[in-house]
Amino acid sequence: MTFNIAVLPGDGIGPEVTREAVRILRAISEGQFELKFEELPIGGNAVKQFGSPLPERTLERCLASDAVMLGAVGGPDFDSLPPALKPETGLLAIRKALGGFANLRPAIAYEMLTECSPLRPEVLKGADILFVRELLGGAYFGQPRGFAGEGASRTGFNTMIYSASEVERIAHVAFKLARDRRKKVTSVDKANVLEVSQLWRQVVIEVSKQYPDVKLEHQLVDSCAMRLVTAPNSFDVVLSENLFGDILSDEAAALTGSLGMLPSATVGGKINLYEPIHGSAPDIAGKGIANPLGAIATAAMLLRHSMKREKEARAIEQAITQVLGAGYRTADLKRGSSERLTGTEEMGRLVLEAIGTGSTRPASA
Ligand code: IPM
Ligand code: MN
Repeated sequence: MTFNIAVLPGDGIGPEVTREAVRILRAISEGQFELKFEELPIGGNAVKQFGSPLPERTLERCLASDAVMLGAVGGPDFDSLPPALKPETGLLAIRKALGGFANLRPAIAYEMLTECSPLRPEVLKGADILFVRELLGGAYFGQPRGFAGEGASRTGFNTMIYSASEVERIAHVAFKLARDRRKKVTSVDKANVLEVSQLWRQVVIEVSKQYPDVKLEHQLVDSCAMRLVTAPNSFDVVLSENLFGDILSDEAAALTGSLGMLPSATVGGKINLYEPIHGSAPDIAGKGIANPLGAIATAAMLLRHSMKREKEARAIEQAITQVLGAGYRTADLKRGSSERLTGTEEMGRLVLEAIGTGSTRPASA
């Protein structure tokens, strides 16, 4: 049985990092199982070529695939486009069409990257958080939204709205995942001010009754933002609505020291979507220096969540640790002089070698 992956490299560094992730998936599947890749346009490049950030054919092919792997979208060239043509509009449209509402974003403080983080080693130690970010609701999709009025009295507005059933389904995902981890869920809200958060909290409490083995705590989003950098190892699963999760998961990148390290998987819908959380990084695009490890770790999540290939997923994750442990670093991770500066492609090749041999020759700077 062939497993079909729609590959959407997108803009900026998207294509370069996605290439490495695909290379690794090809290699790891060889002789074991059959993967088929189909590359499709999305984002700013798609606007240039086809006049839409999500061309009809891309959408069609994604809906006919078994999983979608995306690089990144956006860039300064596209910022002044009208809303319907913005790359981000294409991204939100594909998320909605695929139907995945649970965006899983693991943030782990790798021991060998301690120096990359602005946080002190003793604060970082043991931090291993799984963000469960609701992805199809809240202010990102709520109606009404738009602009109104004229001159100084013109307004811009969005609606942060959740139905009980939307909260319920994402809460179940968080509690189930916590069961396989350290059995703790921190639900993030702003219930001291917002009605939408009061409903969120109520529903999460109701759902938690079905998981008596999982500890539930509630944390206001402002204090959560602070606790993330003062006591990151006090979290296990962090459950949040869309916008709060967007902000907090970027903040959590400070734990690994680089946004370039973080993968994500969006599950719960018709077709799962896999994307690293770093953006298109237009300033370094095309230079061959981008960190592909976020995209490669995203490939591991695809194997785990869409193909139930835990062994292969772990092999990739271990290879990443191995290569970092041997002293190889892309520019975003390089701190000391003893580390070897490594480009995008070389980093991909090193991970591949480590998967094949289980070892990496130590880097000499
Ligand atoms: C992310 C990104 C997107 C989001 C943007 C590009 C629309 O920041 O995946 O975190 O806000 O969800
Ligand atoms: Mn974001």
